[in-house]
Amino acid sequence: MSSRVLTAVAWPYANGPRHIGHVSGFGVPSDVFSRYQRMAGNRVLMVSGTDEHGTPIQVQADAEGLSARALADKYNRVIVGDLQGLGLAYDLFTRTTTSNHYQVVQDLFLALHRNGYVVAKTTMGAISPSTGRTLPDRYIEGTCPICGYDSARGDQCDNCGNQLDPADLINPRSKINGETPKFTETEHFFLDLPAFAESLGKWLSTRSDWRPNVLKFSANLISDLKPRPITRDLDWGVPIPLDGWRDQPMKRLYVWFDAVIGYLSASVEWARRYGQSPDSWQQWWCDPAATGYYFMGKDNIVFHSVIWPALLLGQNGAGDKGGQPGAFGTLNLPDEIVSSEFLTMSGSKFSTSRGTVIYVGDFLREYGPDALRYFISAAGPENQDTDFTWEEFVRRTNFELANEWGNLVNRSISMAHRNVGAIPKPIAPAEADAALLATSKAGFGEVGGLLARSRFKQALGEALRVVSAANKYLSDQEPWKLTDDPERRDSVLHTALQVVQDANTLLTPFLPHAAQQVHEALGGSGVWAAQPEIREVDDLGDGPAYPVLTGDYAGEQARWESSPIEVGRPLAKPSPLFRKLDTKLGETGPDWAPIRTEPS
Ligand code: MF3
Ligand code: ZN
Repeated sequence: MSSRVLTAVAWPYANGPRHIGHVSGFGVPSDVFSRYQRMAGNRVLMVSGTDEHGTPIQVQADAEGLSARALADKYNRVIVGDLQGLGLAYDLFTRTTTSNHYQVVQDLFLALHRNGYVVAKTTMGAISPSTGRTLPDRYIEGTCPICGYDSARGDQCDNCGNQLDPADLINPRSKINGETPKFTETEHFFLDLPAFAESLGKWLSTRSDWRPNVLKFSANLISDLKPRPITRDLDWGVPIPLDGWRDQPMKRLYVWFDAVIGYLSASVEWARRYGQSPDSWQQWWCDPAATGYYFMGKDNIVFHSVIWPALLLGQNGAGDKGGQPGAFGTLNLPDEIVSSEFLTMSGSKFSTSRGTVIYVGDFLREYGPDALRYFISAAGPENQDTDFTWEEFVRRTNFELANEWGNLVNRSISMAHRNVGAIPKPIAPAEADAALLATSKAGFGEVGGLLARSRFKQALGEALRVVSAANKYLSDQEPWKLTDDPERRDSVLHTALQVVQDANTLLTPFLPHAAQQVHEALGGSGVWAAQPEIREVDDLGDGPAYPVLTGDYAGEQARWESSPIEVGRPLAKPSPLFRKLDTKLGETGPDWAPIRTEPS
């Protein structure tokens, strides 16, 4: 039976090119998962986009001498290009500066407001004593009250990752002229989180299958909920859709408030552009039988396990104060939170400022998408912080991808091509053939079960077990020595090719580009694994045009099953699947990201 699966992928900030740490957290895992789900016959809606508001964008815009919009335009395009290059098969990858997003965010805010879950409160806002004007959050820095880091930003500490309010900072100062801001009373909207204590707690208690760390972390948060500000003194963000607020130039919705709503707005945008009807998004959001999986790095958990569910409950009129469902009806809460740990380099969290950064674009240009997808799946930070080393990358690429998988494909197809010129007939089967075929068939249940639970490393390990078994089979059967028994030789080659077909299917979610190549090398035609494409679209309201990622995934041939190879199909001489890397790369790194021998 086909079910509907929402894959909601964390939205990368459009404040720079993404590095391999980013895509190892949100990008590759969500795509491997979605590709598997599609192959298994489920109807997937995979959405995300660039996160383009707030301080993170404004700070970088100042640094580059650009307007916030120009900066977001610039990096939105770079990121769209990188994610497309990596083969991340989004149904829609959009951005948060679209008319559609503004509309959805404002409608959701209004539903919360009507149901009494957002309340205006007087708080302390920063004023520049020298100008008498509001001092925007991005121009305030000071000491973090949580970890003591002395250059924490007004909205967030980059050292400990906690979200802050400018008024929380110790020794706050203006980044413009060093003066100490004056704090005066200002009105802001707060999300009344305590009004979700019971409803969130009840919902969390039904999430018993979540990873224990996510559950424990969320339960802790719920035991101590405080109202949280969801507006800021900013001029870059979604306006507050209420009279008296809408036109205030320095009041905007907080970036995290609008960004999480992106999952819904992107689904609505997808339906308006590509769905059967503009309401098609409801199939993934309003039918309780649909499941929603959210993918992110661990620093994003709270927004997905507590804040976003609270916003959904409030919209639904299902928080502790009750209410009426808003414009979107009754929306599903997340089913799974799939969070990854951090990819580090030589022990430090990837950070642009410390100079230890490997950009996705550079990586793709040099090594192609599947080597990176493989590395992240096999050795990424799935369960613990993981150090990226070039040595490990070289080892995995050469000894696992090239020697194990590439070699199996190459030698089986070459031998069949040379001896028969086509897929041979299995006229003289033996027990060893049946045993190997049983191993590869069993792979579908095992690997599929693991992928459905986002156990990527284990799943890949099981798929590679099939590959090793096939390599061992060839070494045992030695078809190259069977010159005077062509019937037996052909049976061995047939078996090997069938297992190449099966293993290729098992590896397709991880290595979709190589999978297409293997499909063709086995004499197949048409699209085996579909890839995302960049389309330039008009804004659905009155905004400027922009690029999106989308694709025709329903048209791909890959299915999660063993499909029999066709005897007699002509085979050409195969070309190598993976390029081997010079082992020196492991010692030096590439010249655009050299390994530092001195501590920096
Ligand atoms: N831009 C945020 C980050 O990079 C993630 C936002 S996820 C969202 O940490 F879904 F809330 F948008
Ligand atoms: Zn801190």
